[in-house]
Amino acid sequence: MIADLQHLEKNALAELEKADSEDSILAVRTKYLGRKGLLTGLLRNISSVPAEERRSFGKRCNEVKELLEKNIEEALLRRTEDQKAGMLAGQQIDVTLPGRGIRAGSVHPVVQIRREICDIFAAFGFSVVEGPEVELDYYNFEALNIPKDHPARDMQDTFYIEENMVLRTHTSPVQVRIMEKVKPPVRILSPGRVYRPDSDVSHTPMFHQVEGLLVDRGVSFGDLKGILTAFLRKIFGEDTILRFRPSFFPFTEPSAEVDIRCVMCGGKGCRVCGQSGWLEILGSGMVDPAVFQNVGYDSERYTGFAFGMGLERMAMLKYGISDIRLLFENDIRFLKQF
Ligand code: PHE
Repeated sequence: MIADLQHLEKNALAELEKADSEDSILAVRTKYLGRKGLLTGLLRNISSVPAEERRSFGKRCNEVKELLEKNIEEALLRRTEDQKAGMLAGQQIDVTLPGRGIRAGSVHPVVQIRREICDIFAAFGFSVVEGPEVELDYYNFEALNIPKDHPARDMQDTFYIEENMVLRTHTSPVQVRIMEKVKPPVRILSPGRVYRPDSDVSHTPMFHQVEGLLVDRGVSFGDLKGILTAFLRKIFGEDTILRFRPSFFPFTEPSAEVDIRCVMCGGKGCRVCGQSGWLEILGSGMVDPAVFQNVGYDSERYTGFAFGMGLERMAMLKYGISDIRLLFENDIRFLKQF
């Protein structure tokens, strides 16, 4: 058995010497030190060694084992060093290959239009503020002159959280929250998510709006018209034709809906504008004195206007997108185009 051990040691070291790859080094390790390896086998049969020699045989076995382990470790290390040196010498890395490009994402069309709108109004002196998406009934409806059981609530189907708490159906509650906090003059813009239980080619249960509010002394409907005209011409082009159409919102009086000449057909009538030649783009009006009263503003002293628009709709019209759901499917082939 001692002779076997010596033989084994010599062979193992010789094989290790010849091993020139990580795999072949590991193969030597398995062959001798593995669970079914040769050295392991010798140790397992130690009972066939005469009792008086067992001790020294076991000791020798362990010495051989340690030696092999150490040499294998060193061989592996040398291998990695060689590999590194080889790489540095240009054997493995072709430095002339073109690099791998970093795939950059792009800004979502809804975010793009939001930024564009905020930038335009920032230039008009509006500052951007935000409000909560889970909103009290009071701010979403009541303070905006929409009492409980009032038919105007039907204009906006609502997700209720609790009896007095909703997912806001529009960004208008931010008007009230701001006016409660600051005295006039007020000039704010408030983008954010809003929710209504609707779903088809032009409605999703969550969508985005931007609210605008300006309150000061002597603000007139002419100011509203001027600002919104300048704004829409910046977004849709200087030759955009608009019309202000009488409408109703409980929190503005008078109220107007603003339409632009259809960007698809130029006014001839098409599928997008429902043959009317006009596209409804935003709701607006002079702040109703009842709202001023709810926030403690003196409506004899101050007047103001407010407006609200849907971001998805703006993005769809500006970029010619026909189905609102495309904006929420996260299909890279679609998003890449913006
Ligand atoms: N909040 C209204 C809506 O969502 C839009 C609006 C805002 C109208 C401000 C007038 C003034 O339909």
